Amino acid sequence: MDMEQQPIRLGVVGTGRGSVFMSQAKDTGFKPVAICDNRGDKLDIIKQRREAAGKGPMKFYTDFDEMLKDDEIDAIALANYFHEHAPMAIKALKAGKHVLSECAAINTLAEGVELCRTVEETGKIYMIAENYPFTKVRLEMKRLYESGELGELLYGEGEYCHPMDPSTTHNIAPGLYHWRNQIPSTYYCTHAIAPIMHITNTVPTKVNGFVPKIEDQSFRGSEIRLQDSGGIIVCQMSNGAVVRTLQGAFRNESNITTLHCTHGNCEMDRVSGFLNVWHTKSNRGDKPGFRAYSPSWPANEELANKAGHGGGDFWVMYYFGEAIRNNEQPWLNVYRACAMSAIGILAWKSACNGGITYDVPKFDDEEDRKKYENDHWTPFRKEGQDDTGMPPRTLSNWKPLPESFEIAKKAWEERKYMGLGWTKADAELSNIKM
Ligand SMILES: NC(=O)c1ccc[n+]([C@@H]2O[C@H](COP(=O)([O-])OP(=O)(O)OC[C@H]3O[C@@H](n4cnc5c(N)ncnc54)[C@H](O)[C@@H]3O)[C@@H](O)[C@H]2O)c1
Repeated sequence: MDMEQQPIRLGVVGTGRGSVFMSQAKDTGFKPVAICDNRGDKLDIIKQRREAAGKGPMKFYTDFDEMLKDDEIDAIALANYFHEHAPMAIKALKAGKHVLSECAAINTLAEGVELCRTVEETGKIYMIAENYPFTKVRLEMKRLYESGELGELLYGEGEYCHPMDPSTTHNIAPGLYHWRNQIPSTYYCTHAIAPIMHITNTVPTKVNGFVPKIEDQSFRGSEIRLQDSGGIIVCQMSNGAVVRTLQGAFRNESNITTLHCTHGNCEMDRVSGFLNVWHTKSNRGDKPGFRAYSPSWPANEELANKAGHGGGDFWVMYYFGEAIRNNEQPWLNVYRACAMSAIGILAWKSACNGGITYDVPKFDDEEDRKKYENDHWTPFRKEGQDDTGMPPRTLSNWKPLPESFEIAKKAWEERKYMGLGWTKADAELSNIKM
């Protein structure tokens, strides 16, 4: 990274996760010049904090379209709602901005087709901000895999389970229609699959999805979240290997990657965070049968060590900056971004249809992706919408308790959430009279 170069002028959308893009900017060759959030009160808080800390000038926008007219912005980092990134990415690319998009890249397969076409037409840099491939252990797994020591991937496992108690969720998920309250359990899948794609340079080609058909009463408790507690995805990868991912709110925090390969196995140790590596006698060469170690960073140790998500927050911005500076699409390009996001959508479709197999669109192939250009299937309801025709959970008859709604409502009111109304379907679901 040539820090002598002019910094890339960055506009950030979203004041939650978006604040990380602001704080990582300086270390990765960016200059944050503008922030946009359609909640003006959230912007006010940022303004006050910046003034108190004596930070430099910043432009504040409540309207994304206005922000896009700003000629002093080179690149946009999107940290708005999980399922609303693609339309904003498309607008930003068409306005001549490079785009870094939080996960997921897309909410429907049709959006994926349009997004890929837009990147090709505009020639602007697009990257998904998938930070989980860039922890120390996973970068070492990539080095080992590329050295040939492990051979070829046969089977892999990736997990991203992040249980939260209801009071935490109420605080970060204001409103029944907030994405965190209705996201199906297979959708938050990129943290689990992306590391395996990155280490082995493969993409998922076929998908099956499963959700336990058991009512998880202890997950429900005082919840108002509509989804199942966890989802399982099984993918065939482009090299023929099989990968299983687990995501959702199953009991323990789980954030691991495991590879079973033709010449050896390796995994992130669940407890110590060390890397474990195994070989059998026949394929180990001069290596021991088992070793466990804590690897070092390949570079930029100081900057990575102080960044969030095990250093991943540094590397995502670093690679986005490098892509812009070299005018070359990054490894986490639009095709891989769409593929890793699409498996969450297709696995959900599969789970709702008895676990049948779906092909993952070849997003880099116009002939194949054209088949999906009108596929607008989504379970995410818009504010006030009763039903999209697709449920956010499987066969469950579970209904949130009326008292749970009351607790959630109080938390949302305290956070000045304006859209408290829910639809007739929600009221019936919770037995609350409208
Ligand atoms: N990679 C990671 O480690 C990581 C961590 C946390 C969140 N995320 C992702 O980041 C994204 C944001 O997460 P969050 O927790 O901050 O979500 P959030 O819902 O709390 O915040 C989104 C923000 O975007 C604003 N917003 C929504 N639509 C907008 C619009 N059209 N114009 C302007 N502002 C708009 C909202 O007012 C809100 O402040 C999600 O996609 C999430 O999946 C990724």
